[in-house]
Amino acid sequence: MEESFVAINAQPTKEIFTSRWQAPSNIALIKYWGKTAPQLPKNASLSFTLSNAVTLTEVVFMPLDKPTNKVFFSIVFEGEEKPSFRPKLEAFFANILLYQPFLAYYQLKITSQNTFPHSSGIASSASSMAALAACLVDLESQLTILSENEKINKISFLARLGSGSACRSAQGPVMAWGSHPKLADASDLLAVAVNDIHSVFKDFCDAILLIDKGQKQVSSTLGHKLMHQHPYADQRFAQANTHLAELLPILQQGDLDGFISIVEKEALHLHAMMMTSDPYFILMQPNTLSVINKIWSFRKETGIPVCFTLDAGANVHVLYPNNVAEEVNHFIEVELLQFCQNRQCVHDRVGSGIKKY
Ligand code: PMV
Repeated sequence: MEESFVAINAQPTKEIFTSRWQAPSNIALIKYWGKTAPQLPKNASLSFTLSNAVTLTEVVFMPLDKPTNKVFFSIVFEGEEKPSFRPKLEAFFANILLYQPFLAYYQLKITSQNTFPHSSGIASSASSMAALAACLVDLESQLTILSENEKINKISFLARLGSGSACRSAQGPVMAWGSHPKLADASDLLAVAVNDIHSVFKDFCDAILLIDKGQKQVSSTLGHKLMHQHPYADQRFAQANTHLAELLPILQQGDLDGFISIVEKEALHLHAMMMTSDPYFILMQPNTLSVINKIWSFRKETGIPVCFTLDAGANVHVLYPNNVAEEVNHFIEVELLQFCQNRQCVHDRVGSGIKKY
């Protein structure tokens, strides 16, 4: 337990408090895959915070007469009660209560929606946990004094306990999570902004191609677990940290060739871990590979610095600088949408993190 994150001075009041926050999804360039309890990463990771793929969450905190020993909540997602969301949220609140003991004095009414299609494979756990954490810290800041820095760190800290990668959605445009020798203030407990970034990366575009919106065969929870007995785990963790060290000067200098090389290697190494675990699995679909090959041919023919990355799924994130957006969007339209389910694609770009709405 991290004593410094316990809200010891926050005194509950008898007033109803409503909080509304939106939080974006994020896309990892250096991938987190493998963890130890409680949600501590085995290697450092780095991501672009997105801008359009967001979760909007409202929490109404209703005071109770007597404190309870667990957090009472209701959850409505996109207009429907969601019993299937309860186990994850119950586990989350059981952890959070240690850090926000005042929650025992409230009943929470949570209402949430995404701006992107649900079950599209876009990581909604990152945006939803970050938005919920922002609402929880909003209440905490009503009950005790917190500086802006303390607030943002607490949001990232709580979001991490909900879903590891969610801690990287609190701020932007580039976030790092996990201790690393090249990042003095980086921590396993929460994500920090990486500030020395070339302007080309500050409005980078990410077109998310929805290749397969079906249920994933393997959850990321199981995927992380399979790294425990994985024959290449130690090499992978060391390699991710090396890639992060190599990426930092590339991000500073705006070196697009260097960026492409590291980002594509990371995506393929993440999937190589899945393919070489026991049990093994493949999350890419034939259309994922078709898109990758098209991107490689287009880049070779035109010299336009467009590349791809992958999450733990079949969808492809197409990454490119804003100054070639017109050419790349035309390429996506003509050559790539044919590989997407119902030609669906979410056009996004790098963004700045959580916002009140
Ligand atoms: O945050 P989780 O437990 O859903 O894991 C996310 C893992 C990846 O998306 C594959 C990589 C990452 O760093 O976001």
